[in-house]
Amino acid sequence: MQASFWHQKWEKGEIGFHEDQPNPLLLAHFDALKLNQAERIFLPLCGKTRDISWLLAQGLQVVGAELSELAIEQLFADLQLKPEIVEIGSLKHYHAKDLDIFVGDIFELTPELIGTVNAIYDRAALVALPPDTRQQYAIHLRQLSADAAQLVVTFEYDQTQKSGPPFSVEASELKALYAAFYKLQKLEQKPVEAGKLGAMDVSESVWLLQSLRTQAA
Ligand SMILES: C[S@@+](CC[C@H](N)C(=O)[O-])C[C@H]1O[C@@H](n2cnc3c(N)ncnc32)[C@H](O)[C@@H]1O
Repeated sequence: MQASFWHQKWEKGEIGFHEDQPNPLLLAHFDALKLNQAERIFLPLCGKTRDISWLLAQGLQVVGAELSELAIEQLFADLQLKPEIVEIGSLKHYHAKDLDIFVGDIFELTPELIGTVNAIYDRAALVALPPDTRQQYAIHLRQLSADAAQLVVTFEYDQTQKSGPPFSVEASELKALYAAFYKLQKLEQKPVEAGKLGAMDVSESVWLLQSLRTQAA
């Protein structure tokens, strides 16, 4: 997907992926990440998700990466927070108490810029990326987070019936991307409400990824 694709979506308000409430799968499975107060959770491709408000309310620090500055202006307005904004090369860093958002291409973000990451919550991020970008993305997330645990929400459907995004990411692909480095556990799979993604059978799964290094330690 070109950056222009997403910029146009935000400019036209075509953001069907945005949910009015925190994601039910996050609420149901957040505890699996075993985070302590004040630890830091990273939301790649975060949009203006309401999940950020919910995570802040749990006493966490939140860090996000998002291409669209419009999305992030709306996020801070929704949160009623006034950001400090600093330009760092091709990125802009929006900061408020407990919240850091890097606006720009996630692939420009470095471990030095992002700082400590204790966990990742990937909702509508991996599945927003075309197949040829997903391996680079998975490697990049590992580098940014030093293999921190992840909650990953995926969709599965017959990709021949519809082109993404969101793309269908089957268990076999998730395993190919991550199983060499993480223990993968499917925590829940449920059908997506009829009509949300057209007239197809679609299921949504939430996966817990835990580093094999910390498992062995
Ligand atoms: C499907 S939306 C999901 C947003 C959010 N995770 C949610 O659940 O509402 C994908 C988001 O990724 C952003 N995006 C796409 N490519 C990106 C990139 N290379 N770097 C950063 N953000 C990107 C888009 O602007 C869009 O807001």
